[in-house]
Amino acid sequence: MEVVVLRLGHRPERDKRITTHVGLVARAFGASGMLLASEDVKIKKSLAEVTERWGGSFYVRICENWRAELRRWKSEGGKICHLTMYGINLPEVIEEIRIEARRSKLMVVVGAEKVPFEVYELADWNVAVGNQPHSEVAALAVFLDWLFEGKELYKKFEGGELEIIPSARGKKVVRKSDY
Ligand SMILES: C[S@@+](CC[C@H](N)C(=O)[O-])C[C@H]1O[C@@H](n2cnc3c(N)ncnc32)[C@H](O)[C@@H]1O
Repeated sequence: MEVVVLRLGHRPERDKRITTHVGLVARAFGASGMLLASEDVKIKKSLAEVTERWGGSFYVRICENWRAELRRWKSEGGKICHLTMYGINLPEVIEEIRIEARRSKLMVVVGAEKVPFEVYELADWNVAVGNQPHSEVAALAVFLDWLFEGKELYKKFEGGELEIIPSARGKKVVRKSDY
């Protein structure tokens, strides 16, 4: 299942930490990449460093025109899910989204401040992770977990330099070049 996250409204000075966390969650929880709707090469670089160390093929692409990007995605048969507290609550739509995402591909849109109304109209689903305000990082994590039904927690990240060996106490990390 191809899932790409579109991060809207990123303000380089204010949002760098939270947008980095959106990218980290997207990568760790099974998305293929993140489109960033504003120029910020530092975020692209820091996520590329994470992928270099920890593996996988997650990408970050700066997209200059998110409207054109959403329209192109739709014209290629892709589906769009916008995460918003105003939407239909996740448990009611996740099965339909999963079925459609398996058939084609899925773009998950998260905002920063106010999201333009056009996004609500372009989206195939406006989905709430509970109808209370919280965070794009939390909304994305819960959404991806429900979409992948927990299987993303066992995702293997090929390549990279380091791998964690799960342990009840302490930190076990192996260097992949050693085996
Ligand atoms: C800090 S919120 C901003 C909310 C903003 N006031 C609005 O009108 O959408 C940033 C982003 O977090 C996500 N978000 C926050 N609460 C959510 C919820 N309950 N369900 C789904 N997404 C949520 C949305 O993607 C939202 O654009």
